[in-house]
Amino acid sequence: VTSKTVKICGKCYGADDKMTNVTQSIIDLTGRSLHLQKCHPVGILREAIETRLNSTDNAFKSYNKFEPVVSVYDNFDSLGFPINHPGRSKSDTYYINSDTLLRTHTSAHETECFSQIHQAKETKPGFLISADVYRRDEIDRTHYPVFHQMEGCRVWKRGLQNEHIDQLQKSLAILQSQLAQQKTKIVIEDDDSIEGNPAQAYMSDIEVNLCSQHLKRSVELVISEIFEKKLESMRREGTLKLPSELKCRWIKAYFPWTAPSWEIEVWWQGDWLELCGCGIVQQEVLKRAGFEPNSTISWAFGLGLDRLAMLLFEIPDIRLFWTQDERFHNQFQRGVIDTFRPYSKYPGSTRDVAFWLPPGKNFDDIHTNDVMEIVRNVAGDLVENVKLVDQFTHPKKDKKSQCYRINYQSMDRNLTNSEVNELQKEVVKQLINEFDVEIR
Ligand code: PHE
Repeated sequence: VTSKTVKICGKCYGADDKMTNVTQSIIDLTGRSLHLQKCHPVGILREAIETRLNSTDNAFKSYNKFEPVVSVYDNFDSLGFPINHPGRSKSDTYYINSDTLLRTHTSAHETECFSQIHQAKETKPGFLISADVYRRDEIDRTHYPVFHQMEGCRVWKRGLQNEHIDQLQKSLAILQSQLAQQKTKIVIEDDDSIEGNPAQAYMSDIEVNLCSQHLKRSVELVISEIFEKKLESMRREGTLKLPSELKCRWIKAYFPWTAPSWEIEVWWQGDWLELCGCGIVQQEVLKRAGFEPNSTISWAFGLGLDRLAMLLFEIPDIRLFWTQDERFHNQFQRGVIDTFRPYSKYPGSTRDVAFWLPPGKNFDDIHTNDVMEIVRNVAGDLVENVKLVDQFTHPKKDKKSQCYRINYQSMDRNLTNSEVNELQKEVVKQLINEFDVEIR
């Protein structure tokens, strides 16, 4: 009997026919740790946020070296994800086998870090977790199967004498005064109505209120600090024409492990940009970490670093983060948000592939993410964009057709025509093998 194994970060895992969908091209990205590179946009941003959050009361311990392989339990079950939650599906998540996967978010480590606080191995009342996370997704300029998140959490033990209320109030006052001192003012539209976003019964109204405010002001402080750095650099570069005011809004959200929950969006160049999901941690999660029932309250947020870094550094294509080209890396310095100066973009080359689905199959039977994955596996970072451009059902033959358009383009060099043809040939071959389609 030969059993297949998958090797990631120096460890071997048993593969399984039904669940394994992680591929070598993804595994090859697992050790890069862009968030730890001091002069990489993602690393610069990570460090700036850590520093700012700790500048108020030094409450956060940083965990930046967790490996990306986690259990299904840590990523989903421990956080109360329902069994049929779409995030669990094979089309969205990279599974190593039925119990193990590449984390889809940094929340996968919350329980572990909470339990460090519970066991008093960690005396700081909060933590920040920065890491690479993995999701099967589309291919375009803003999506990549790996990106980076920072998780932030803060815990208060509920004292009998309500000491925690005092602590919350004091800490909140510091946050508020620091926010008032920021040069970049945030104009906030807040949705704090509880309709459809209920608080947990074990907390008093005042606790919910203070904890929510503490969370929101902490996130706002991060955002105003980051945009302040950006506006500073625009001023330096002479490109700033706007006043130093930032429009943000809090909107209700849903996450299985927080209640109530919100998302914050920032108005930037004519669009609302979603930056961060957050909420008050469900007591079930705290209990799983070892805390006595009703003994603690806590907030958590999860911030996507890559999109924010793209916006701040004006990086046009997310693949640039992964390039080894010095013309990219030479442009950035620790602690500074500089605008990226594009070096020549190499020309791209477009190919279409159109096919008939096998008889009896529906459009839903071929998941776009699976097609994306085939292209990614064949072409890696040489693919800029994949798009479903056409689909129809032939009225007489009752056959279904799809057409995908693939744009091949390298960040680092010119691609030759014959090279692109070879890539395309291989993509077509794998589409036939995998889905039994008939090329038109
Ligand atoms: N993990 C969530 C995501 O990836 C973000 C989040 C973190 C939400 C913590 C609530 C609390 O979207």
